[in-house]
Amino acid sequence: MRGTNPKLALSVTPVQNKTFYIRTYGCQMNESDSERIAGTLIDGGYSMVASADEADLVVLNTCSIREGAENKVYSDIGRLRLLQREAGATRTVAVAGCVAQQEGPALMARDRSVGLVFGSRAISRLPELIGRVEAGERVTAIDIHTRPDAPDSQVRGDPHRAWVTVMEGCDNHCAFCVVPATRGPEVSRHPDGVVAEVRELAERGYVEVTLLGQNVTSYGKNHGTDFADLLRRLHAIDGIRRIRYTTSHPKDFSDRLMDTLADCPKVARHLHLPLQSGSDRVLARMGRGYTYAAYRAKIERVRSLLPGLAITTDLIVGFPGETEADFSATLDAVREIGYFNLYGFKYSRRPGTLALTLDGHLDDDTRDQRLATLLAMQKATTLRHYQALVGSLVNVLVEGVSKRNTARLSGRLENGALAHFEGDPGWVGSFRQVRVTQASASALIGVAV
Ligand code: 5AD
Ligand code: SF4
Repeated sequence: MRGTNPKLALSVTPVQNKTFYIRTYGCQMNESDSERIAGTLIDGGYSMVASADEADLVVLNTCSIREGAENKVYSDIGRLRLLQREAGATRTVAVAGCVAQQEGPALMARDRSVGLVFGSRAISRLPELIGRVEAGERVTAIDIHTRPDAPDSQVRGDPHRAWVTVMEGCDNHCAFCVVPATRGPEVSRHPDGVVAEVRELAERGYVEVTLLGQNVTSYGKNHGTDFADLLRRLHAIDGIRRIRYTTSHPKDFSDRLMDTLADCPKVARHLHLPLQSGSDRVLARMGRGYTYAAYRAKIERVRSLLPGLAITTDLIVGFPGETEADFSATLDAVREIGYFNLYGFKYSRRPGTLALTLDGHLDDDTRDQRLATLLAMQKATTLRHYQALVGSLVNVLVEGVSKRNTARLSGRLENGALAHFEGDPGWVGSFRQVRVTQASASALIGVAV
């Protein structure tokens, strides 16, 4: 899950002399959690500052999906420790998110500069936890079995596009994945709460919502409802013009949901459906619960219902035991489906996962080469998809103004592609028709009409 919303960059009038800074790593779920952390801290009398050096409290909202992401967190903690020493400051470092959840007590033991470790399900308790830290305690709050339903205060980073978390956690056990351990079991918010939140967002002028969850396609089980019903209810809300959702699991991507997508034109014609591998042998070892043929049949059905649908995916290369033939099956699948775009990852060993115990771990070079091959192949396909749009008129939600040239705007199409064009900065937050004139593999250039 990543990237169509801006990083949290907010400025708030100081109400007290306590300040905080949040650095967010990883997925959109973390971005959304950071907005809630900011909201809760501001309610507690803190004000937000633009850099870690100025802050009394630095929150690192971390990601542990792959080793690289986790290592980045440790090097940042080290850098903060140095800063602390040089400045002789009494800054509190708080570690939130998936590394906090995964490493909790170990993080505390490893670094005295860390005063608070808290998981995503403890955000609403922050005032109490911070109070204890201010009283001199070092606090760990990483229980994954609670979830407040009502969203806490949230300082949204964008006035037109909002993230709305609809569920948290995951009940699947994909062999490579730490998420079930870090985010806990699946719990959905009550649909009435989600509908009320989106209605309120629409009243405040939001035009796009992105529904977030580790597996939104299995939303609603604990409330006797499902994602299709939720989408229908949200689709009926006036003012909301575009609904996005991420991320989905192929085994839960049902006919009923596809039919609902076809009935709800405000739901963006973009489907992110992680395949992970094109080899049935690897899919079985990953514990994904579907075969490539079953996945492809779903893609065929949804494409027949929604012509022009842009489909993107996640793929892991170099999973333990992946042979050249397995990897070729992945390339064949990518070729056959013709993804609009994809996120490719090289398999990363994660603590406590089943994949660690499997045989056939591959060396770094093999994984690097396979990833490079996959990404090069996709780049050519994405370029073709983008080039096919040259000459056409597309509907763009204007997201921002270029920092270097205020007449240059950028925005996204329904399919998630980024477009740049000249226009009035006052257009930000509105939909514009843009004639596409040029395409690269990363963005479109156009002229507003
Ligand atoms: N190694 C590599 N990629 C991973 N992902 C999840 N866990 C791992 C891992 N251990 C990828 C999957 C998932 C995406 C969010 O991250 O492709 O869909
Ligand atoms: Fe991880 Fe699989 Fe759950 Fe996705 S569905 S969060 S990959 S365990």
